[in-house]
Amino acid sequence: MQVVEKKSEMSLTQPIRALLNVEDYHQQAKGKLSQMIYDFYSTGSDDQLTLIDNQQAFRRIKLRPKILIDVSSHSAINSISCQTQLLNSTMTISFPCIIAPTALHRLANGEHGELATVRAAVACSTIMCVSTMGSTRMERIAEEHREQIKTNYPQSTSQLWYQLYVFTNRQYTQRLIEHAERCGYKALVVTVDSCILGNRECDVHNQFSLPEGIQAENLIDDKNSDFAKTYRQAPMDASLSWKDLKWIRSITSLPIILKGIIHPDDAREAVKHGVQGIVVSNHGGRQLDTCQSTIDALPDIMDAISGEHHQIDVYIDGGVRRGTDILKAMALGAKAVLIGRPVLWGLAVDGMQGVRNVLDILKKEFRVAMMLCGCQTIDDIRKNNLLVMNNNSNIRSKL
Ligand SMILES: Cc1cc2nc3c(=O)[nH]c(=O)nc-3n(C[C@H](O)[C@H](O)[C@H](O)COP(=O)(O)O)c2cc1C
Repeated sequence: MQVVEKKSEMSLTQPIRALLNVEDYHQQAKGKLSQMIYDFYSTGSDDQLTLIDNQQAFRRIKLRPKILIDVSSHSAINSISCQTQLLNSTMTISFPCIIAPTALHRLANGEHGELATVRAAVACSTIMCVSTMGSTRMERIAEEHREQIKTNYPQSTSQLWYQLYVFTNRQYTQRLIEHAERCGYKALVVTVDSCILGNRECDVHNQFSLPEGIQAENLIDDKNSDFAKTYRQAPMDASLSWKDLKWIRSITSLPIILKGIIHPDDAREAVKHGVQGIVVSNHGGRQLDTCQSTIDALPDIMDAISGEHHQIDVYIDGGVRRGTDILKAMALGAKAVLIGRPVLWGLAVDGMQGVRNVLDILKKEFRVAMMLCGCQTIDDIRKNNLLVMNNNSNIRSKL
């Protein structure tokens, strides 16, 4: 790994290491954030086994590359070979990696928070899925998105999606959906794995609380009792069930994507209910601990829906840290991956530029992986039979 040192200060200061990969950003962010905020971002529920396994499961899958294939089309700096079409080709992203919805970006970057993230999304031509629990109002993020495209990145194909938690107060939930649509968000990502908050013991130990001036801004409206400051007490609707999808459908014309599917039967049910996509997700190991890792869950899900008439987009998140992870997810049939913590690490280290760097690193790694596997196009990743699954091995190493 490249190490850059300032000679005159060598004995006084730590050598400055170049940040080459997502883990480098993680370690750098860890040094910058307070213990309470770092733990809030990084940890999972109970014994954090799912959190660990999400990453380990990617590592268990091995690649068997195809060789002697002309992959010179990747050489162009802005290689089009990684571009990915989503939702019936209504959207294009520069490579199959989307910013996952994560709460409270101003904890990582107090000044700009979500505005820094959205600028990076525009610069990298990808989608930012904005969390209901954002620390910046959704209309402000949408305005910044428009402004950035207009002023700085007219070629950008970036779009915004809105992540929805369904609250017990359905009228309030409805107002959130309608507001998101009015603001120009292009898909509704309904989180379905959170009928109650997972047991995150680190947050309890740390007595997690929001610093002065930072709150879940979108949970405030004039008709709503103000639970933005308490954040964790926001009353999720534990009665949410399949029949409610009809209700959501009746309120919005946006494509609906269900986030938090692990069971193949649920994937089939989602197709039957006519949604446009699902995210295979266990909430980054923050909800049900010992839940199956997402990349292990993906093959059965793809099998379950392969015979269905209505085709949907299947996305996956949890533990994606390398370009090879993205390639493995695509090889198993995912349309794109979402990344949660890597974005937060980039944001904490260097705001908009940090998020951009993290996305650029993953894009570069993905391109290299494609070339080394003999893939000219995204379709080749699926066709080339590149994976050796080894689900029985039980490698446990500290992350
Ligand atoms: C700090 C943090 C906050 C999150 N907040 C939300 C949220 O508000 N809504 C949601 O649907 N998922 C949320 N998630 C889950 C992410 O969308 C995503 O599923 C997960 O982070 C993916 O795993 P990864 O962090 O390993 O990439 C959050 C995850 C983290 C780490």
